[in-house]
Amino acid sequence: MIMTFMEVILTRYVPLSLFIALILALGAFVLPAQISAESLLQGAHAVTSSMPKSCRACHRGMRMAIAGEEKVCFSCHGDAAERSMMQSRGYLVGSVELADIKTVLNKPYNHPVLAVANVHRQNETLPEDQLKAPRHAECVDCHNPHVVSKENPFAGIPGRRVVNAIVDIEFEYELCYKCHADSANLPGDSTNKHAEFKVTNPSYHPVEGEGAKAYVISLKDPYKARAERPGDVSILTCGSCHGNDDHNGPKGPHGSNYEGLLTENYVTADGYSESAFVYALCYKCHERSSILGNESFPEHARHIIGQTSPGGGTSCYSCHDAHGSSKYTSLIRFNEDVVEPSRDGRLEYKQTVGVALSGSCTLICHGVEHVERSY
Ligand code: HEC
Ligand code: HEC
Ligand code: HEC
Ligand code: HEC
Ligand code: HEC
Ligand code: HEC
Ligand code: HEC
Repeated sequence: MIMTFMEVILTRYVPLSLFIALILALGAFVLPAQISAESLLQGAHAVTSSMPKSCRACHRGMRMAIAGEEKVCFSCHGDAAERSMMQSRGYLVGSVELADIKTVLNKPYNHPVLAVANVHRQNETLPEDQLKAPRHAECVDCHNPHVVSKENPFAGIPGRRVVNAIVDIEFEYELCYKCHADSANLPGDSTNKHAEFKVTNPSYHPVEGEGAKAYVISLKDPYKARAERPGDVSILTCGSCHGNDDHNGPKGPHGSNYEGLLTENYVTADGYSESAFVYALCYKCHERSSILGNESFPEHARHIIGQTSPGGGTSCYSCHDAHGSSKYTSLIRFNEDVVEPSRDGRLEYKQTVGVALSGSCTLICHGVEHVERSY
């Protein structure tokens, strides 16, 4: 949100209750037009036919101060009982359908909105630069309640650095990078997502830009390596894979019953019998029959189904990274929990330059050694 000098002075130095009272009482008359109630509040929450009490829908109580925790949002975006209370008190009117985000956040894999409290600070800057800072995610980290709209749920969230200024984010991934890229406090088992998705990598799923490969045989409609016809989809979002497992429920990365906060099931461990469900996430976009028909990697079926089927399968995860690979083509990144270096200490994948569907591996996997084993 770009603030005028007056707004900064007012928001920083005038107590909130006084500020809101000032705006409401004097608004359009005395203060410059930019800080009238109407202009501070835009988008979905500024629609007075559904929220006639304006600021007071959220800034309630004597002090009107607000902490940026989820409780205030749940009064309308939570369960039906709370919502009808807001309706009976006249804060919410009309017949708008509001999503129940609270129930979704209670699913087993989620953003820790409910679990973490009192860490978010107004005017904090993300990505976090303190190594030991506790991690958090609140509704207001991803949605600016003063300007959020149905068309742009993250409108007015600052985040993108352009030279020395911080400007509002434009793409969903920029929002996610505020906490999943350069943050000094990333958990130990987590990686910098920008490093995985950047378009200078040898391979990556196409989120920041179109993919490294111009043709990928297994892709299902409407997904394409290159968008050529209207309706072709060659750019994904984080939300293509992360979000609610209930596809008719509220959209967004609030919670899922699938591990990894994924929209579809995806088993990362080896030893499962292959099925449409086990690798459902990948098969949403990549034709299962093409993968198992070895149309791209001649050894796919042997690994994925396994030689001692049932129960001998290798997960895609043992060979591929779902985000990108800074080292290899074809999203190859070996899962080092199961793949070790060969006896002479090499862990390598080589794709034969200029020859389609040809390469070699040097490694030990489940006790089986490959030394420049080619295909
Ligand atoms: C949909 C709920 C909602 C409505 C409506 C709303 N606010 Fe807020 N407001 C919040 C929340 C939540 C925060 C805390 C944000 C944070 O912690 O990052 C906040 C913070 C503020 C702040 C201090 C933080 C800042 O932005 O620097 C001011 C001032 C403010 N609101 C004024 C208003 C005024 C004036 C109105 C009416 C024109 C209004 N708000 C309407 C939810 C709302
Ligand atoms: C008084 C009720 C009320 C409160 C409190 C409230 N909202 Fe909303 N919110 C609405 C209404 C009404 C809409 C518009 C829905 C529509 O147009 O279908 C909306 C829309 C949204 C949207 C846009 C997506 C959509 O469904 O249209 C987001 C995101 C959102 N609110 C987040 C928040 C957050 C975050 C908070 C807490 C800081 C909050 N809301 C507090 C009533 C409320
Ligand atoms: C304000 C910070 C913040 C933002 C913005 C944010 N996240 Fe997170 N995210 C977290 C925190 C905190 C966790 C808990 C684990 C951790 O500390 O990384 C988490 C966890 C996750 C997980 C792992 C969940 C699991 O069950 O394994 C995924 C996936 C994820 N986020 C995706 C996203 C996506 C996609 C976006 C952008 C739409 C996003 N995040 C934006 C803070 C954030
Ligand atoms: C939402 C759709 C979608 C999902 C889900 C998806 N992919 Fe992809 N995938 C694509 C698109 C689009 C491309 C084309 C990228 C390009 O042009 O390089 C691609 C390309 C690939 C490539 C080839 C990359 C290269 O440079 O050679 C591999 C390997 C791959 N995906 C594996 C997977 C695996 C494994 C999964 C499951 C974890 C998965 N994909 C899930 C859409 C998807
Ligand atoms: C093609 C599908 C796909 C896309 C697109 C995708 N992810 Fe993921 N993501 C996965 C899968 C599968 C996992 C679980 C396995 C793993 O950890 O690699 C995962 C795991 C994660 C995790 C938890 C593990 C960790 O490293 O912390 C985070 C956080 C995450 N993704 C963030 C993102 C963000 C941010 C984006 C967008 C910039 C994104 N993802 C886009 C498939 C995807
Ligand atoms: C980590 C970031 C993140 C957090 C935390 C978060 N949201 Fe969202 N939310 C999103 C994104 C991204 C979308 C848009 C998904 C889409 O349109 O694909 C979204 C969508 C929504 C929608 C629209 C749902 C629909 O079906 O259209 C509402 C309402 C909403 N969020 C409210 C909330 C509330 C209330 C909270 C806190 C209780 C919250 N969100 C926390 C990222 C977040
Ligand atoms: C044993 C390692 C291994 C496993 C397990 C594996 N792959 Fe692959 N995959 C490869 C290699 C190597 C290539 C590159 C072949 C080439 O282009 O030379 C590849 C290529 C691909 C491609 C890109 C070409 C295309 O259009 O098909 C996709 C997509 C893909 N794999 C998806 C998957 C999925 C989905 C799974 C799990 C169901 C999986 N892979 C399991 C090694 C593996």
